[in-house]
Amino acid sequence: MLVLGIESSCDETGLALVRDGRLADHVLASQADIHALFGGVVPELASREHLRFIGGLYDILMERQGLGAGELDAVAVARGPGLLGCLLVGMAFAKGLCLGCGARLVGVNHLHAHLLAAGIGHRLEFPALGLLVSGGHTNIYHMASPVEITQLGRTLDDAAGEAFDKCGKVLGLAYPGGRLLDALARRGRADAAMFPRPYLDNDNLDFSFSGLKTAASLYAAAHFAPDAWPRPLESVDSAPEALCDMCASFNLAVVETLEAKVERALDRYPAVRNLIVAGGVAANSLLRSRMHDLMRRRGGQVAMPEPSLCTDNAAMIAHAGYLVHAHGLESRLDLEAIPRGRAIPDDFVRA
Ligand code: KG4
Ligand code: ZN
Repeated sequence: MLVLGIESSCDETGLALVRDGRLADHVLASQADIHALFGGVVPELASREHLRFIGGLYDILMERQGLGAGELDAVAVARGPGLLGCLLVGMAFAKGLCLGCGARLVGVNHLHAHLLAAGIGHRLEFPALGLLVSGGHTNIYHMASPVEITQLGRTLDDAAGEAFDKCGKVLGLAYPGGRLLDALARRGRADAAMFPRPYLDNDNLDFSFSGLKTAASLYAAAHFAPDAWPRPLESVDSAPEALCDMCASFNLAVVETLEAKVERALDRYPAVRNLIVAGGVAANSLLRSRMHDLMRRRGGQVAMPEPSLCTDNAAMIAHAGYLVHAHGLESRLDLEAIPRGRAIPDDFVRA
């Protein structure tokens, strides 16, 4: 079975091919440089860039693999959540292909695809607990199978990635700050008392990270002169020790908060021995090692996508589409794009 995946929900245009469950090839055009000029993603610019790139990327991918559209069995497309104009570019392209060449359409939940990306290259075990940590979301899920995924908790305000990026902004790190903050943290010494572990004093599986940004701003204002390092800081080379120490402390606060709620969720589902951690923040080195330690301690296993497949990409969409189609499900051609903030309907039909 040959599945084409299309990702265009935010600022990365990606296309990928999965053949019989294995990733064959993928291409990705990032718009990060353009949006960096504005300090965040500009939705109208993002959809125009998707439109500019999607056709050319499709040609490159298909030519590289020596394939024609008629050989596609299914076209999987990210149908939400995301920026509506951006999603519509990918959806229109996918529907056009399906209408033109007879492939089946599979509308993929972008968040579920992040989680299932942990299974690219090896088999995932179910039931599993899923922790999705990205720039826009911080969710915990119960996953009975690749197509039975139930949300247990979410962030009430900022996502974990947003917390990293906002702290990065306060510190004058190049946007988005998460990856550099992680690199700086690896050079620093963490002080566990520098920042709080927010929103743990309750009995739920939700998160709240907005207060950490305020704590980071206050700490930076009290301890760092505005010209203490060149801004925007692009690399770890010119970073002073005190900055690395603050990054290490902030990193630890976010990771320990995530860990506490994951452990709480595992306590509530004693039959679950598998943890999946995914999304852009799953590339974080401390989070990866702490989640490994946690599951080793509990006698279970953790699966995470390789770091390059943690951020947005089309390999995860093609792979999720393959799994859905392999379960005998597909989408109708009137499939709706779902913007951020609206629940994604469970509207698959039997293939
Ligand atoms: O999943 P993703 O590509 O985008 C969304 O769908 O939201 O995640 C992007 C987020 C950004 O906030 C970025 O700063 C963060 O992931 N990120 C990291 C790391 N690499 C990327 N955060 C912490 N440590 C990292 N190594
Ligand atoms: Zn994403």
